[in-house]
Amino acid sequence: MSKSLPRIVKFAVSATALASLTLSAASAADTLRVCSDPDNLPFSKSEGADKGLYIELAELVGKRLGTPVEYVWWLSFNQRRALRTTMDGCDAYFALPADAQYRVRGLVKSNAFLSVSYAIVAPQGLKITALSDLKGKKIGVLHGSPPQILLATQEGFTASTFRSQEEVFAALQSKEIDAALLWGPSAGFDNKTQHSNRWQVISIQGESLGGQVAVAVSKEKPLLKDQINQALEDLKPEIQQLSEKYGFPTQAPLQINSTQAENRYARWDSLQAKSPAYRSSGFIKVADKPSRREWLVAETGTSIAEAQSNFNNKCGHCHGKNGASPISERDLRKLSMRYKDEWKSVAYTTITKGRPDLGMPTWDGILPDSEIKAIVDFLVTVQKN
Ligand code: HEC
Repeated sequence: MSKSLPRIVKFAVSATALASLTLSAASAADTLRVCSDPDNLPFSKSEGADKGLYIELAELVGKRLGTPVEYVWWLSFNQRRALRTTMDGCDAYFALPADAQYRVRGLVKSNAFLSVSYAIVAPQGLKITALSDLKGKKIGVLHGSPPQILLATQEGFTASTFRSQEEVFAALQSKEIDAALLWGPSAGFDNKTQHSNRWQVISIQGESLGGQVAVAVSKEKPLLKDQINQALEDLKPEIQQLSEKYGFPTQAPLQINSTQAENRYARWDSLQAKSPAYRSSGFIKVADKPSRREWLVAETGTSIAEAQSNFNNKCGHCHGKNGASPISERDLRKLSMRYKDEWKSVAYTTITKGRPDLGMPTWDGILPDSEIKAIVDFLVTVQKN
């Protein structure tokens, strides 16, 4: 927790800066006020030599528009909630998922200008033409990341989980693992800046593994959206150069058939989370003790049968079909025996936050909250007493 404190302080400062910006908005009409994350390399960074692709691009767009660029720094984690309160202070946000389903009130989006996704990271010599080439190999993934779920839900893969990207690279180096599945842009960036391009980084495309990004523009500025679209069109070669400069994977992506649950929003919001420390820094709000009432509300839309099949798909390989694992501490039929009246909130907290050290993944940001609650409701039906 103490590590994340400076971020919160920084956040408070930018909130104050933002308030004054909003006040002076009228007089600053001839600047392009860009909202971006202060600490999200390779995309954006408020300090240091590497500004990030979004910031360099925002500068180029500003030049095209003939306006200086001013920055409003805002942590993109839990983006949509933050944006609702910040977009007042800025004209454009670099950048957001282009996906039409990812809507933020008060914003319209430019055309997509970049594809981002997870990627396979492997030694240069290894021939990879499909995900199945990694079968039988030891594959590093970040704890709670979509690739962890992807591998867990398909046959024949052996995943080792890690807490940070640095640890994954270290394990590749020491040959503890043979390959890894990491967020492509940041893996590519580290590969280039810290590992002299020692590894090949190949994008993978599939459900929940990535998408395209666009600039979000205040709805009140339809003209600005057109101008930004034109600028992005003209800047295509520069965007390509910036992708290379920051080490983004550039070769054609591999197509993956993934059968993960639909939850693009939560996943997009979590895509940029770099470390569990970041995740637990207070920007995710999980109700610790949801009441039974909340669960019932959450049930609407998901039947117990759906929750059951969801459970068997996502959790069954570790907890047994319908929770009936022969390993006692994984046997989810014993929850009510074990935790008495508290069992549902223990289950909910365990599922959302995981028990990383004991091998139970974190599902917050991976499964929608309503699905987690529906799974708890399904677990009611299998309790032994
Ligand atoms: C990779 C394996 C794995 C997957 C996948 C997994 N779990 Fe777990 N889970 C564990 C382990 C191991 C424990 C036991 C941790 C311990 O010893 O306290 C656990 C513990 C739990 C507990 C607490 C049990 C208790 O008695 O304290 C709940 C509830 C739970 N898991 C639910 C789920 C649900 C729901 C899913 C799917 C959304 C899921 N788990 C997916 C490995 C997994």
